[in-house]
Amino acid sequence: MPDTTTLRARNIDFWTRSAPGWADQADRHDEIGRPLGAVALDRLQPRPGERVLDVGCGCGGTTAEIARAVTASGSAVGLDLAEAMVATARQRFTRPGGTGPRFVAGDVETLGVVPGAPFDAVYSRMTLMLLADPLAGLTTIRRSMRAGGRLAATVFRDGRVNPWLPAALLGAAAHLGPLPPLPIGDEPGPFAFADADRVTRLLTRAGFADIDLRPYDVTLNAPDDPAAVTEWLIEVGPAGAAYRDADPESRGLARAGAAHLLERFRTAGTGYRLPAGLWLITARRALDD
Ligand SMILES: C[S@@+](CC[C@H](N)C(=O)[O-])C[C@H]1O[C@@H](n2cnc3c(N)ncnc32)[C@H](O)[C@@H]1O
Repeated sequence: MPDTTTLRARNIDFWTRSAPGWADQADRHDEIGRPLGAVALDRLQPRPGERVLDVGCGCGGTTAEIARAVTASGSAVGLDLAEAMVATARQRFTRPGGTGPRFVAGDVETLGVVPGAPFDAVYSRMTLMLLADPLAGLTTIRRSMRAGGRLAATVFRDGRVNPWLPAALLGAAAHLGPLPPLPIGDEPGPFAFADADRVTRLLTRAGFADIDLRPYDVTLNAPDDPAAVTEWLIEVGPAGAAYRDADPESRGLARAGAAHLLERFRTAGTGYRLPAGLWLITARRALDD
């Protein structure tokens, strides 16, 4: 596996280059992608007055949802590695007078403690498996929580229970320029947290207590609009930057290639049903930590 410095450089480059596609797709992603984190939000139950951190907040949709739950008496902070993601999140959700969620650009692996700590609760949707050094990132998260504070996060399980995810990439890739290196083994990537024992070991080494992983199967419902749905899936995936760099003809071929492989998830006239297999990860910072 490449060293952590190389993986971190890859991560920042990848997310900086992916950010414009995520920004364009932000509303669609918030709507269709909600089941990817709903179970963690249900478990976390952010309450009015609480301080809550959203790790890897992307374009801020989930942080804004948390901000509504904690109300103006609490605070919601979204942290993201990519400045451009944070800029989009601020544009979408920062309100005059500084009310609403706050967004911070930074790497959870190297911050030591996240600005705004200590947090009562930490939420994260589809990010922890992407960290170049997950132990460092999880340690920052634990240190940023108050004693007794709670963590609830979702990550993907493996590729077999998320078959649509590689389909969009495989269908599009042949028509696009060079793609970023695809992850191998435990390298950061969508399925790097598939192994529950590995995740439990990492959380234990990071100092968490009451660690629990549960499988959840959810369905993403997307409208019967193949061009829009395939573009969304390409833009929020590893081929996103190459897709944006491509000429219109290649983009059309990439969408058609992805649409072909995604056809098995589509019912004409009804839409797409994309099955997603998740781990719900919960843990606490021990009271005596
Ligand atoms: C798959 S996206 C998920 C975004 C959002 N949570 C969602 O579910 O829509 C992963 C996000 O994690 C961010 N990220 C990756 N590594 C990070 C790190 N080391 N520190 C902070 N954020 C990171 C990326 O910039 C990206 O916005």
